[in-house]
Amino acid sequence: MGGNPLKLGVLVSGRGSNLQAIIDAIERGNLEAQVAVVISDKEDAFALERARKHGIEALFIDPKAYSSREEHEKVIGDELEKRGVGLICLAGYMRILSEYFVDRFRWRIINIHPALLPSFPGLHGQKQALDYGVKISGCTVHFVDEKTDHGPIIIQAAVPVLEDDNEDTLAARILEYEHKIYPRAIQLFAQGRLEIEGRRVKVRRAPAHTWAVVNPPLEG
Ligand code: GAR
Repeated sequence: MGGNPLKLGVLVSGRGSNLQAIIDAIERGNLEAQVAVVISDKEDAFALERARKHGIEALFIDPKAYSSREEHEKVIGDELEKRGVGLICLAGYMRILSEYFVDRFRWRIINIHPALLPSFPGLHGQKQALDYGVKISGCTVHFVDEKTDHGPIIIQAAVPVLEDDNEDTLAARILEYEHKIYPRAIQLFAQGRLEIEGRRVKVRRAPAHTWAVVNPPLEG
């Protein structure tokens, strides 16, 4: 592939392990993109340190410095545009985006959620799955629309919920796959292979498979 790589703006609030997975995929040559800027709404987010360690510009933009959500988002949007960002990746960004921001960057914002949407949107998707008693959960990368954890789905991974799971063990099992599917979703976007048709995202030239995750297993 030639040309300029897709520029990413990653929005974070915390630990930044998904940001790290994106950076690692780029450094390994598995993702044709470049992280142009990382923006946090929390000054002490570890994600900012991770970015700086890799020579990536990292900004804290304090929501408390602005009188409305839209004003805060306008500043974020301007910083992203200044750097020519083509895709905004929410990676543990714990703020709900306004219609203004979603509309300004229509179909150029994606999010990762730690559950198989539309099940268990919102906070603590892993705990919600455990409490509900599902046998399979997982994670979802989707385009962002006006409703929380709602836009067209790009990719999902399913993992079993085991008998003695607690929130932490299930979250860790899901997180391992978050780190695989998020860079993959970005790569599909970067390659221009995603086409949104209503709620469905068509993935061009993706090999299909037909096996299932069954939990508990059919045998044994
Ligand atoms: C991840 O598990 C992500 O799926 C979740 O926050 C965590 C951030 O971890 N996001 C949401 O729950 C959004 N509704 P990270 O900072 O280590 O990437």
